[in-house]
Amino acid sequence: MTVITCIDDLKALHRKRTPKMFFDYCESGSYTEQTFRENVSDFAQIRLRQKVAVDMSGRSTASTMAGQPVTMPLALSPVGLLGMQRADGEIKAARAAAKFGVPFTLSTMSICSIEDVAAHSPAPFWFQLYVMRDEDFVDAILARAKRAGCSALVLTLDLQILGQRHKDLKNGLSAPPKLTPRNLLNMATKTRWGLEMLGTKRRFFGNIVGHAKGVTDASSLFSWTAEQFDPCLDWSKIARIRDQWGGKFILKGVLDAEDARAAADFGADAIIVSNHGGRQLDGALSSIRMLPEILKAVDGKTEVWLDSGIRSGQDILKALALGAKGAMAGRAYVYGLGAMGEAGVTRALEVMQKELDISMALCGEKRVQDLSRDNLLIPNGFFDTYA
Ligand SMILES: Cc1cc2nc3c(=O)[nH]c(=O)nc-3n(C[C@H](O)[C@H](O)[C@H](O)COP(=O)(O)O)c2cc1C
Repeated sequence: MTVITCIDDLKALHRKRTPKMFFDYCESGSYTEQTFRENVSDFAQIRLRQKVAVDMSGRSTASTMAGQPVTMPLALSPVGLLGMQRADGEIKAARAAAKFGVPFTLSTMSICSIEDVAAHSPAPFWFQLYVMRDEDFVDAILARAKRAGCSALVLTLDLQILGQRHKDLKNGLSAPPKLTPRNLLNMATKTRWGLEMLGTKRRFFGNIVGHAKGVTDASSLFSWTAEQFDPCLDWSKIARIRDQWGGKFILKGVLDAEDARAAADFGADAIIVSNHGGRQLDGALSSIRMLPEILKAVDGKTEVWLDSGIRSGQDILKALALGAKGAMAGRAYVYGLGAMGEAGVTRALEVMQKELDISMALCGEKRVQDLSRDNLLIPNGFFDTYA
C-alpha cells in the first residue's frame, strides 16, 4: 500500500492507473506549455518567513467563500470529463468535497449530469457555465442547475475559443475513447479503470447528450461542441445570464487588471484569477504573478480567488497571504480522483489542509484570516518583471 504524503504521490498513481489519453488531457497546457509550467514554478519562487516563540495553539483553517462556510478556503475547480478519469468521477469528487466541507464546481462538460450529481451528493455544489451560441440550451441548463439546487454559478470567460493542446490531438482524445488498437492496448493495462467503466452507464457528456438540439450520440456531440462556444460573449450577454440566474454569480478566468476592475464594477460575488491552468493563452503570466495587480484594481469591491498552479497547502497560504480570499485547484484533486477515486480526492484535500495548517503555524499565524504579506519573502522585482 503506497503511503500518500503529497499531491505528487497522487499524480504518480493517477499516471499509472488511468488511460494515457485521459492522464495527458489533465497534464497538459497549450502550445509550449510555458504558462502551465510557470503557474507552478512561480509559486516556488515565493518563500515563507519563519517565526518562533509565538503561541500556535487553537489554529483554524476555516473561512468563507462567497458567504459559504468552508473548512479551508479552497474550492474544487470545474474540470471536464472527470467521469473518464474514473467511473462516475463527478459524483465521487462532489461527495468528497461535500464531506470535507469545501465547494465542488461541476463543469458544463461533465460526464455525470447536474441532476445525477445532485441526487448523489450530500451537499449543494456550484455549476460552471460555458456560454454557448444556442441560447435555448443556455436557458435550459441554467434552469436545470437552479432546479438541482446549485448554490452558485461560475461563468467561465477564458474559453470562448479553444487553446490547442498538442497531446489531445495526438492522442485523439474522445469520450468515451475510440476503440483503436493503440487505445485498447493501453486500456488493457488499466484493469480497475476498465472494470469500473464497464459497471457504469455514465460515459457520455451527461449535461449535453439528449439536452442540446440535434445531439443524440457522441459523434454528433463533438461537432456540436466545436461549433458551440460563443465567440461573441460580452458584458451584455454576461448581464443577461446573471439576471436569469438570480443567485451567487462568480466570474472565472480574469487575468488582467482592467478586466478585473470591469468584473468588480459589474457586481460579481467573486472573481477567479485564472489562466485556465495554462490550457488557453500560452505565454500569459502565471496567476500568482498577476494577483497583486488585480487585487489593487478590484480595491475590495469583491472577493478575489486564485486559481491555476495550486499543488499544496503552502501554495494556498501564499495566495491568501498576498490578499486572495480563497483559492481553487483543478489538477491537484484530479490526480487524487484518478489515483484512488473518492478516497483520493479526500486524500488530496487532507494533504493540502495539513500543509496549510502546519506551514501557517511555522509562520506564527493561527488563522487563515491573519495571513498577510508579512509572512512572505518575495524576490525583488518579482511582481514587476514584465510590463
Ligand atoms: C483536465 C482539465 C479540464 C478542465 N475543464 C474545465 C472546464 O470544463 N471548465 C472550466 O471552467 N475550467 C476547466 N478547466 C480549468 C480548471 O477549472 C482550472 O482553472 C485549472 O485546472 C486550474 O489550474 P490547476 O490545474 O493548476 O489547479 C480544466 C482544467 C483541466 C486540467
